[in-house]
Amino acid sequence: MQLSPAVSALKPSATIAAAAKAKALKAQGIKVYDFTLGEPDFDTPQHIQAAAIAAMQAGHTHYTPSGGIPELKAAICAAFERDHGFRYQPNQCVVSNGAKHSLHNVITALCGPGDEVLIPAPFWVSYEALVELAGARAKIIPTTEESGFRLSPDELERAIGPQSRLLLLNSPSNPTGATYSPEHLEALARVTEKHRLWVCSDEIYDKLVYTSEPSRSWVTLLGGIPERTVIVNGVSKAYAMTGWRIGWTLAPAPLTAAMDNLQSQETSNPCSVSQHATVAALTGSQQCVADMLTEFTRRREYTLSRVRQLPGVSMPEPGGAFYAFFNVSRHFGKALTNGRVCRDSSEFCTALLEDAHVALVSGDAFGAPGFVRLSFATGLANLEAGFDRIAGLLKG
Ligand SMILES: Cc1ncc(COP(=O)(O)O)c(C=O)c1O
Repeated sequence: MQLSPAVSALKPSATIAAAAKAKALKAQGIKVYDFTLGEPDFDTPQHIQAAAIAAMQAGHTHYTPSGGIPELKAAICAAFERDHGFRYQPNQCVVSNGAKHSLHNVITALCGPGDEVLIPAPFWVSYEALVELAGARAKIIPTTEESGFRLSPDELERAIGPQSRLLLLNSPSNPTGATYSPEHLEALARVTEKHRLWVCSDEIYDKLVYTSEPSRSWVTLLGGIPERTVIVNGVSKAYAMTGWRIGWTLAPAPLTAAMDNLQSQETSNPCSVSQHATVAALTGSQQCVADMLTEFTRRREYTLSRVRQLPGVSMPEPGGAFYAFFNVSRHFGKALTNGRVCRDSSEFCTALLEDAHVALVSGDAFGAPGFVRLSFATGLANLEAGFDRIAGLLKG
């Protein structure tokens, strides 16, 4: 079948593909320890569910303005000011069908053929695809395990060329969990400001931080740099609302108007009921976020202790999000305990899934061959059994 060049070139999301493989084994009745998907295993908090039901009963089941209802835009701006001390206006906000959709809006509105989008690796699986769909070119900037997978100002400076239009920065990072100190971010911001580069700061994990310093939003750096900054965030991770599909951008008003226009033609408004639920999430008690963070903190500590005990494996400590991203390349070319010899992370993940029934995502998908990603957004008992199996496969 003849498809468009852009869609023919599209690879399926590697995380979704890895989860599908695990699901196929589960369908055969096999118990699989599945650490592939990046979503909290908690239910959406009760008061948020109640707000959705109330919204339906109040008749909020119709089209809304394409870029979101005024109450939600106001709630997003107020929550941002509460958390970061920076005031955005509602005309600088577009509410979309999840942060992934917001990223699509940003990239499509800002970039096209001839433009280059800078993406530090390891990167979240969809970044490259979204850039290519917009007809722009992704320029990957490798970072190192030794640096904790943090982009240095020098690496950024060297990567910027005449076609560079946008930097996609994600802190805390999926897949590495890397976070940046405010000083490090400011050093990067000096480079982007010097080159008048747009920055799209994907802050979707900003509530899931395990370091003593809270997350610092890009726009607050250097005394405030709203001019070429777009903040992307949403409720999927912090409020366990992945299925509700609500994300947003905070950006200069002219760009916001362009993205709203784009969205009005492509999808119209995000789900009306989900928008009302999100108002409740942002304006209600934030205790649910704190409680989930407490549980994630326990799981992270357990995960770190188990990864440290795995033979021939290394990992920089994740400062945020809910992933462990570790280097398994020392096991390549040598037999695992089951006799299998793997040449790369994909073969390693296949061996792990087929022989130990543990599902991880290969680092290749994130631009980091030699690594694997484990999501610890799952219960401790599951983690314990999964790590026992991983340890059983690795020779010391
Ligand atoms: C770094 C990053 N950005 C954006 C998203 C998209 O989130 P949403 O569910 O809001 O589309 C994800 C989801 O995994 C993510 O990891």
